[in-house]
Amino acid sequence: MKKVHIKSYGCQMNVYDGQRMADVLGQEGYVETATPDDADLILLNTCHIRERAAHKVYTELGKLRDLKRERKAQGRETTLVVAGCVAQAEGAEIQRRQPAVDLVIGPQTYHRLPALLAQARSGRVVDTELPPEDKFGHLPAPKPAVILARGISAFVTVQEGCDKFCAFCVVPYTRGAEFSRPVAQVIAEVERLAESGVQDVSLLGQNVNAYHGKGPDGVWTLARLMHRIAEVPGITRIRYTTSHPRDMDEELIAAHRDLPQVMPFLHLPVQAGSDRILAAMNRKHTSDEYRRLIDKIRMARPDIALSSDFIVGFPGESDADFEETLRLIADVRFASAYSFKYSPRPGTPAAELAEQIPLAVMDERLHRLQALVEEHRQGFNHAMVGRTVEILIERAGRHPGQLAGKTPYMQAVQIESATHRIGDRVLALIERAGSNSLFGRAVERPDLAA
Ligand code: 5AD
Ligand code: SF4
Repeated sequence: MKKVHIKSYGCQMNVYDGQRMADVLGQEGYVETATPDDADLILLNTCHIRERAAHKVYTELGKLRDLKRERKAQGRETTLVVAGCVAQAEGAEIQRRQPAVDLVIGPQTYHRLPALLAQARSGRVVDTELPPEDKFGHLPAPKPAVILARGISAFVTVQEGCDKFCAFCVVPYTRGAEFSRPVAQVIAEVERLAESGVQDVSLLGQNVNAYHGKGPDGVWTLARLMHRIAEVPGITRIRYTTSHPRDMDEELIAAHRDLPQVMPFLHLPVQAGSDRILAAMNRKHTSDEYRRLIDKIRMARPDIALSSDFIVGFPGESDADFEETLRLIADVRFASAYSFKYSPRPGTPAAELAEQIPLAVMDERLHRLQALVEEHRQGFNHAMVGRTVEILIERAGRHPGQLAGKTPYMQAVQIESATHRIGDRVLALIERAGSNSLFGRAVERPDLAA
């Protein structure tokens, strides 16, 4: 039996892509293995968003070259594949820097993996086309047992690429222009997942709320797509990520009020709080527009948990600009957030700007920002203590007799229960908030009482 090890870096879309590549290779007789040590095929599914992420790939490839050599000495072949966004951005350069790599394949061509692997047997291959053809239409459906093994929560990519061109970001270059999957294809995938026991779907896209897929009667929006997904039997939870503030339209906001399956959680990156920096970033919104948008979303769904991405040290960011970011965070109070030091990326307009910020300044700003966000995150988690919320049980817990799941607000929870199982929706009383997880116990469900 041939074995493949897939290591995905970066965002959730890479996790989804990694699973699709496993499905394609599954048809060729490969089974997945969790370690590179016993794999015949090792595939790095890479991320190019920040320099550090891209750098990691070369470090890893150095180690894998040694592994490949050792095995060769024992008469065993290993195939090394680099996929994902570094592959797309750097192409043949990867094999120049690391000749042990057999195949470089971009994120738009992985349905061609079997043919490319065959080609790679007689020499190194690079395929980083951004073809207009629909790769999704060429992907095999995973078997029910494979779906089940991946758990009751699943990712479904509905949109790829980005037309926004934020000045710091490589995505419009690595993932290409916006593309939305047709409605029928998405629904068929969600139905297949639900039939195998999936309850919780996260709809993915680099700019997911710009979704505009071909429907049976013209173009559908993300809100309309979610209304349809909410009708799929078995689907109890729906989320979507990542959204751009400019594409949060009234219909989508209303879906948070009207659809019980749409979870009260929204990742809506703002990046910075100063209008001068937002303009330099080409974000196409001001900080007040963002605040007003948050107000509207909270009117539709008062308990919604909000999350964001922040970049500190964008070229030209002054102390006063940074204070504006802290002020925005204090005003909104995010339930969680990701934050990064600005990293100049080749080919992006911001990398050419003169006023790059010293690392020490970025470190200090990142530290202050993270401390504030952490205070709000802990506050949000502690406010759950004493409340009763519905938990979807996803896996066994840390200790015997414990089960792990999530609240509707994306918080991890451990509950004590001897009677419940994976897939159950349990009402739990939250008794304690730890630093990364809530703890509680199952209580009677009045809505299920006869
Ligand atoms: N430097 C630092 N962070 C970046 N991001 C995107 N590009 C860069 C960059 N060049 C961050 C943004 C984005 C998240 C996915 O990564 O905050 O929302
Ligand atoms: Fe990058 Fe901006 Fe597009 Fe997000 S919206 S993927 S940050 S260009």
